[in-house]
Amino acid sequence: MSGRVRLLGISGSLRARSYNTALLHAARAVAPEGVALEIADIGEVPLFNDDLLPDPPGAVARLRAQVVAADGLLLAAPEYNGGVTGVLKNALDWLSVPPTASALRRKHVALVGASPGMLGTARAQTQLRAVLTLCGARVVAAPEVLVAHAHRRFDDDLALADEQARLLLGKLVGRLVREIRDSHPLVPS
Ligand SMILES: Cc1cc2nc3c(=O)[nH]c(=O)nc-3n(C[C@H](O)[C@H](O)[C@H](O)COP(=O)(O)O)c2cc1C
Repeated sequence: MSGRVRLLGISGSLRARSYNTALLHAARAVAPEGVALEIADIGEVPLFNDDLLPDPPGAVARLRAQVVAADGLLLAAPEYNGGVTGVLKNALDWLSVPPTASALRRKHVALVGASPGMLGTARAQTQLRAVLTLCGARVVAAPEVLVAHAHRRFDDDLALADEQARLLLGKLVGRLVREIRDSHPLVPS
């Protein structure tokens, strides 16, 4: 790892005006110095099919390469029907196989989420944490970034207008970066 930390953001929403994708853009703005945050496009990732594994579709291979190249992941999880969205779970399933070469194993991951509801994706994030733990990822424990009433926290341009939420997001990204750096103790920060 060079001194620069590379993060990959993955949003569980494909919506053009997604609050969760907007949260990833906000994270880029509050990330510490020396951190590059790229945002993946998972819109073309097909539904998981084990039969395709020997020769994964291009969009899957590209996502896997981005994840492998990243020092850590920032996952923005919308909540659908009390759970993780299909598009995000689908992408994680692709990344987790084959188990002997999972792109998620030992990967540093932080979770965020935004919802117009009052729970701010708490249920989806709890599920996601369990899934990632099973995949052997190193999930940042705290702080939890649960952006409730999202329609009031973002402005018309989808910038995160809520100062408290921005501070919390900055803390979480800082924590993720620290955990990445701590796991590479010989590399100057
Ligand atoms: C099928 C469906 C189910 C939903 N279920 C929940 C839910 O369980 N909890 C919640 O807080 N919001 C729920 N919502 C509302 C989403 O949080 C809202 O659409 C949000 O904007 C989605 O995230 P995005 O802005 O990143 O696309 C649901 C929306 C859809 C379309």
